[in-house]
Amino acid sequence: MSKCMKDTFGRNIDYLRISITQRCNLACTYCMPKEISEEKEDVLTYDEIIELVEIFAQSGIRKIKLTGGEPLVRKNVSVLVKNLLKVKGIEEVTLTTNGILLDAQVEDLYAAGIRHINVSLDTLDEEIYHRITGQYGVSRVWKGILHALSLGMHIKINVVAVKERTRKEIIELVNLAKEYPLHVRFIELMPIGMGKQQKRLEEEVVRSWIKDAYGELKEVHKSLGNGPCSYYALEGFQGYIGFISALSHEFCANCSRLRLTADGFLKPCLQYSYGCDLKEPLKKHDVEEVRHRIANMVYHKPKSHAFLSEDHKDKETKPMSKIGG
Ligand code: GTP
Ligand code: 5AD
Ligand code: SF4
Repeated sequence: MSKCMKDTFGRNIDYLRISITQRCNLACTYCMPKEISEEKEDVLTYDEIIELVEIFAQSGIRKIKLTGGEPLVRKNVSVLVKNLLKVKGIEEVTLTTNGILLDAQVEDLYAAGIRHINVSLDTLDEEIYHRITGQYGVSRVWKGILHALSLGMHIKINVVAVKERTRKEIIELVNLAKEYPLHVRFIELMPIGMGKQQKRLEEEVVRSWIKDAYGELKEVHKSLGNGPCSYYALEGFQGYIGFISALSHEFCANCSRLRLTADGFLKPCLQYSYGCDLKEPLKKHDVEEVRHRIANMVYHKPKSHAFLSEDHKDKETKPMSKIGG
């Protein structure tokens, strides 16, 4: 019989985000400084990840999202994907990437069974992209997206909405969902890591720019993945526009996730520093202890984040790249 995990607020926990490396080939200003990417890391091996996922799947996890850092900087991600999809109970493996290495790897990823990829692309202007990420990458990322679309992959573009983004940049990005069968999502900047030093571009502002250019956004009552995004349709568009607004439209009541960092630390919530190590019991092949720690983290999953509370003691201090987004 397949099990499911309910937390103390009745939420069904069936989605695990696994960061496979904290390294990244970009250094986005709201995410992390380059030095972090160069720190030596003690990551779980692919065999260890599979062993853990077998235990997670027995507990009720059905969907896996691979994240980083940048997951595609790690070698042979498609081999990991193929083996994850062989684990009994795992129904879907998806990927979130910055897209720099996508063109080269997308065929292998498709062959391994990936069908859904989220690609971070904050602007279509090369100079501005360079200012945000430290590299010229728009045309490379775009090539990877077109390649993925040509294979029939489902693509969502992630845009982190910071104050500097202009109306022109936002409308150019929105236009992609008109011209291509993909979805464009605006992520409200979260005050995590270097995100604390920047200002958010409010969802309401983005919405008003979109309305001026393309008319009313109509809410779509369906979910296109396993995450917290709300989707909207625009007349004549092939794809939807999405908003992930953790602060202004908190979505924690529907939270279904746990997070595993690249070094094997299990976090019940993105925003709290607490969690527990799974690597040590795994190394001892103590399956019961791993199972116990997973159940304990589900039990301790908070009702919601505390981004807006000034004095919370357990706030996460690590940068996004170490948490896995
Ligand atoms: P799908 O809908 O299945 O594609 O997943 P997703 O939207 O969760 O995946 P993605 O990795 O693209 O994440 C998009 C943004 O949502 C990132 O900025 C994440 O940090 C943010 N996000 C995802 N899950 C959570 C969450 O549980 N809490 C918060 N606060 N942010 C989240
Ligand atoms: N706030 C919101 N989103 C962020 N991301 C990275 N840092 C932040 C932040 N502080 C995004 C990335 C990627 C996703 C996994 O998380 O751009 O799209
Ligand atoms: Fe879940 Fe925490 Fe994200 Fe809220 S902030 S949706 S509780 S992981």
